Amino acid sequence: MTDMNTTALFSDTSIGAIDVANRIVMAPLTRSRAGMDGVHTPLAVQYYTQRASAGLIITEATNISQQGRGYALTPGIYTDAHVEAWRPVTESVHEAGGRIVLQLWHVGRMSHVSLQEGGAAPVAPSAIQAGETVFTLDGPQPPSMPRALDTDEIPGIVGDYANAARKAKEAGFDGVEVHAANCYLLEQFLRDSTNRRTDRYGGSIENRARLVIEVVTEVSRIWGSDRVGLRLSPLTKAVGDTPLDSDPQSMYGYLVEQLGRLGLAYLHCVEGQTRGENAADAFDFKALSRAFGGAYIANNSYDRELAIAAVNTGRADLVAFGRPFIGNPDLVERLRRNAPLFDAPQSSYYGGGAEGYTDFRTLADQDQ
Ligand SMILES: Cc1cc2nc3c(=O)[nH]c(=O)nc-3n(C[C@H](O)[C@H](O)[C@H](O)COP(=O)(O)O)c2cc1C
Repeated sequence: MTDMNTTALFSDTSIGAIDVANRIVMAPLTRSRAGMDGVHTPLAVQYYTQRASAGLIITEATNISQQGRGYALTPGIYTDAHVEAWRPVTESVHEAGGRIVLQLWHVGRMSHVSLQEGGAAPVAPSAIQAGETVFTLDGPQPPSMPRALDTDEIPGIVGDYANAARKAKEAGFDGVEVHAANCYLLEQFLRDSTNRRTDRYGGSIENRARLVIEVVTEVSRIWGSDRVGLRLSPLTKAVGDTPLDSDPQSMYGYLVEQLGRLGLAYLHCVEGQTRGENAADAFDFKALSRAFGGAYIANNSYDRELAIAAVNTGRADLVAFGRPFIGNPDLVERLRRNAPLFDAPQSSYYGGGAEGYTDFRTLADQDQ
């Protein structure tokens, strides 16, 4: 490998009001180790603290309401018990010198009646069933047929985001990331493939962007926009077998231009099919980041070399790593030293206890 100037990737910066020690971000990673009530155990404190040398940790997607839940054993941020379980996580990460924002999640149609209050149907922009599977206590199941939200229910959804954003503040986070990626509720509204509404939340690009803009605006009122980030994945269709928008460049371009005006902390893009190949060239992410104007976090199958290049050329301000952070709690140090990375077994990604979660070794452990 050629010698590369690694200074920029390991240099400190600020994204909005959040100061970070380096440009390496821990991407949000669902690990399905909370209780059925969405309350984390102390293992989560250890897991996140082990990874606190990331410039910024983005937590696993966290349900804003029971209605927003699509996978068993994922955490919530809508009750006081959730706040009490998250607070030791934020305190411990801060003590270790890290920064941590919470990812706000509503799955929309990617849910199952067994996870909903009173066995209700999941909600979506339109009554179009998703493919693929969601994880219930009885194992993987096809997502249930969703019900289209009434127009007068939408303020309630925005209200659930606001409640969750307030609770995240009580829990001591440095900010929040609005999850508008990976084919969940907000992205279901953005795309014409999943949004067939005829009210002011469907049809034109402006209408389909409306809910995301309302949610981000409301969450920004609570946090200050410089502590609010947004995640998008214009090219992901894997989750729920969700077709892409017919004109993603215009759809997402309009959205980020509108939201850029709010002065958000950052825009975080999954470049390509989530967990697939990096496809930074298949879509004009540069145009998106320019239209947004604030800090840009790039993600999807980045390795050390690609990350260094992206930051050195200014194409990205920060780079988020997902899977590499699972098996390498000291990923930042390993990247700094160009040390080998451990490939965590996929069987430990979701569910279980400490094994495959908090038992990965650091370089320092290995030296002993
Ligand atoms: C086990 C696992 C769980 C994930 N959970 C989330 C999540 O909760 N929220 C989210 O936005 N993306 C989630 N993702 C996607 C990652 O954040 C990231 O976009 C993807 O893994 C590609 O980055 P990587 O190549 O560095 O792993 C998950 C990915 C994996 C492998």
